[in-house]
Amino acid sequence: MESVVNISKNPSSDFYTVPDLKFDIDKLRFDLDKILKKKKFNSLGIKNFAAIPLNKIPGDKSSTEGHNVRGTYWTIPDETGKEAMRDKPIEESKYTELLPEFKGTYFEEIFNILKKNFKLGRVRILLKEARSTLSWHRDPEPRLHIPIITNLGCRMVIEDVSKHMPADGTVTITNNTKYHNFFNGGEQNRIHLVACVLENPFN
Ligand SMILES: [Fe+2]
Repeated sequence: MESVVNISKNPSSDFYTVPDLKFDIDKLRFDLDKILKKKKFNSLGIKNFAAIPLNKIPGDKSSTEGHNVRGTYWTIPDETGKEAMRDKPIEESKYTELLPEFKGTYFEEIFNILKKNFKLGRVRILLKEARSTLSWHRDPEPRLHIPIITNLGCRMVIEDVSKHMPADGTVTITNNTKYHNFFNGGEQNRIHLVACVLENPFN
């Protein structure tokens, strides 16, 4: 695999599959199992959402704790149709250091390849529980997805378009600056590696 890939500007779809970049899904699942034996998902007490951070702000232990694993977003909570801001902003560009538990794993290799190709913020392993949904919301920046465990009932909806992202090692950047949702309509938990992408290819 080439370590540097060509990212197109202004992709025509809000779901952009990165060309010439594919990871080994078996290795990824194998090392996910190893991580899950050592680490628990941080649920923040929020229903159906949980995360394991991969990187941190050097010297800042709190950068992987509490609401720093979620971050700010905007949502339309009720019939008034008015937008509301939730949670707090994150200093994404400061998240440069891989957490020690990922050293020597396939996650480290992926982290390094992604870092070469994208301006990254937080990188997290995100859990979406079976038969659950997020809110209808928008984020400050696009997200890069590498599905690890998924099922055909897992779909991301961006405005009026819904797509399933397969767990086959491919990398998809999604335009999360538009209103979107993710739902898992299956009966198995979904797990994605998700990174914040600080240079927006959709602009
Ligand atoms: Fe989102």
